[in-house]
Amino acid sequence: MNAPTTSQEFATKIPDGVYAQTVLSVEHYTDRLFRFRMTRPDGFRFRTGEFAMIGLMVGEKPVYRAYSIASPAWDEELEFFSIKVPDGPLTSHLQAIKPGDTVLMRKKPTGTLVLDALTPGKRLYMFSTGTGIAPFASLIRDPETYEKFDEVILTHTCRDVAELKYGFDLVHEINHHEFLHEIVGAKLKHYPTVTREDFEFKGRITDLIESGKLFTDLGVPKLDPAVDRGMICGSSAMLKDTKELLEKAGLTEGANNKPGEFVIERAFVG
Ligand code: A2P
Repeated sequence: MNAPTTSQEFATKIPDGVYAQTVLSVEHYTDRLFRFRMTRPDGFRFRTGEFAMIGLMVGEKPVYRAYSIASPAWDEELEFFSIKVPDGPLTSHLQAIKPGDTVLMRKKPTGTLVLDALTPGKRLYMFSTGTGIAPFASLIRDPETYEKFDEVILTHTCRDVAELKYGFDLVHEINHHEFLHEIVGAKLKHYPTVTREDFEFKGRITDLIESGKLFTDLGVPKLDPAVDRGMICGSSAMLKDTKELLEKAGLTEGANNKPGEFVIERAFVG
């Protein structure tokens, strides 16, 4: 009897009802952050801003974590932006993937950072820290975002400048994209800040909202529930503190079944 090939061996282990996709590219930004792109299963639909359960076989068992889909719904591939946690059950393995490797994905995406969960408005704020930029990477590449809002403000706060690179690359890509750059035009404003290094824009987004510096820097009025909408994605402490500030400004939280003036992603993995 012949020994099974590696791929046959692997194929027998893939759990039922789960997509097994092929890694196409991997880019490491820092020792804490990387992104990867993989094939998109035929017929896999999601709403821009949603997350999926991404996994790997670790030994005999699949290990999954929630990952926002960073690519827009029109993209033929799927993109994810990930933290590397040295002893993280998934990310300690995921950070080693290479093109050609297999990544698992559960079939049903979900999430609250979707345009349908917001009531109509003029200006959309996307507040993110660290890998919390991922769902917004999807939303800022979706033409529908610009059909619904006149102005889209993406804030991204990281510890240091190197961690901002994913966001800078994204905005550069949009501004040079064959059709997106016409749709987006001057509507997208990127507001990157860092907290642990010198940079043009410094400080936690919460402090910048409270002091009003965010609005002065952008040249926009302070938060107004009549026209402003918000989406928040970051660590649980950041979600809580930012939510409090939006509520103080008079905005009400919404959900898929009850659209509101801002939404939060609670399933985000840090
Ligand atoms: P800080 O450097 O002051 O902790 P992390 O990589 O640890 O997830 O942090 C990403 C960014 O989020 C950091 O710049 C961090 O600032 C900031 N941050 C952490 N906690 C909060 C919070 N409660 N509100 C706003 N920003 C926060």
